[in-house]
Amino acid sequence: MSLMGIEEIVEKKPVGQQVTIRGWVFRRRKSGKIIFLIIRENGAILQCTFEEAVIGSELFQTADNATIESSVEITGTIREEKRSPGGLEISGSKITIVGLSEVFPITRDQSVEFLLDNRHLWLRSRQLTYIQQIRAAVFDAAREWFKLNNFLEVHCPMFITAAVEGGSTLFKMKYFDTDAYLTQSSQFYLETLIFSLGAVYTIAPSFRAEKSRTVRHLTEFWMLEAEIPFCDLARDMEIQENLLAHICQSVAKSKGEQLKFLGRDPAELMITPPFERISYTEAVDILNEKGHKLEWGEDFGAEEERILTQDKKIPLFVYKYPRVAKAFYHKLDPENPKVVDCADLLAPEGHGEIIGGGQRTHDQGELIQRILDDNLTPDAYKWYIDLRKYGTVPHAGFGLGTERVVKWMCKLETIRDAIAYPRTINRVYP
Ligand code: 4AD
Ligand code: MG
Repeated sequence: MSLMGIEEIVEKKPVGQQVTIRGWVFRRRKSGKIIFLIIRENGAILQCTFEEAVIGSELFQTADNATIESSVEITGTIREEKRSPGGLEISGSKITIVGLSEVFPITRDQSVEFLLDNRHLWLRSRQLTYIQQIRAAVFDAAREWFKLNNFLEVHCPMFITAAVEGGSTLFKMKYFDTDAYLTQSSQFYLETLIFSLGAVYTIAPSFRAEKSRTVRHLTEFWMLEAEIPFCDLARDMEIQENLLAHICQSVAKSKGEQLKFLGRDPAELMITPPFERISYTEAVDILNEKGHKLEWGEDFGAEEERILTQDKKIPLFVYKYPRVAKAFYHKLDPENPKVVDCADLLAPEGHGEIIGGGQRTHDQGELIQRILDDNLTPDAYKWYIDLRKYGTVPHAGFGLGTERVVKWMCKLETIRDAIAYPRTINRVYP
């Protein structure tokens, strides 16, 4: 038995070779004394034909019994067949049903809620399979870039006590006889690690009690965060654009077919730095010129970000937001303390913010003042403040929302499809 993956067969086209494949019945059709089964495995598909005259009535009956989504093992000879997907098929000589499938509940035209309730089965669809493969390629490419650029991968706790991104989206929990939260961001822990490890990154879940249901918010998402010592905002943005361009190019090259299936021309992802940069103040002017009235000082939401990026082809940095719109840890611009040295990276085509980052306040006095200004207690941030006492250093970092990036790359309508099991305000099942 020479076992071969369907993907490998489609790629190498070993016409004339006898092979055994394993997979699931994706489509089936019977035409008189011939049965056509399209088998899928890891997103690749291959047609297999069974002729009663060739294999005899018993095996023919087995092929006939193989319902949609049954798992099967098939042996046969590969031949060219212009009419079948991929131009190949297996002329079957043997078939075994490994696990017979009951009537698969997922068919066409089902409601979004039904598909979400049956996510564990709907994940077998080509759409979700391809998205998951692209998602994995995003992580691979990110890790590759970090390794090439001497960032060390680290891991931080998910149970925390010091909030990073404000109290309103914290998930509070009982931790034995004290209170704790689920982390919103690993940033503060990354900041502690640059003192001994240099540039670091982590890929970890982030939890946010997002009370509203939107197409770009999850309550549990995977953030890719980096922190760099001796770094300012300008360098921080360069790192972000180089990383993202590498991810996009790498995924465009390795997952072209999947992207095309999802309606994304891979050529559109062959983006190169530098990305465009505008200040928050310039962005407010643009919005007002476009008829979207906005006061200086308000943070941008989905609508502002959509207007700013709907005609863009590459991501756009918006930098130096008002201090009142951002968390206390952002460093004040020494030339204009009404703004902070931060930047949001907005994806093109209206997808909105995919990265948030910037330079951190590294001066102890300034940090304590900023904590007090935000009506927080310095005591709660003792260890974070300590970093400013012992060999403090200018530093910067960022957090990239991986599902937001996948949503943009795959042209998804909702962020839910960028993760296998989406968690939102009204969904924690399956
Ligand atoms: O802009 P945010 O809130 O920044 C931080 O958490 C920083 N502490 C990160 C850092 O500098 N280390 O979140 C970063 C990114 C956003 O740009 C967005 O892409 C994503 O995380 N994000 C979400 N993705 C899905 N669902 C949510 N509820 C998200 N909230 C933020
Ligand atoms: Mg943000």
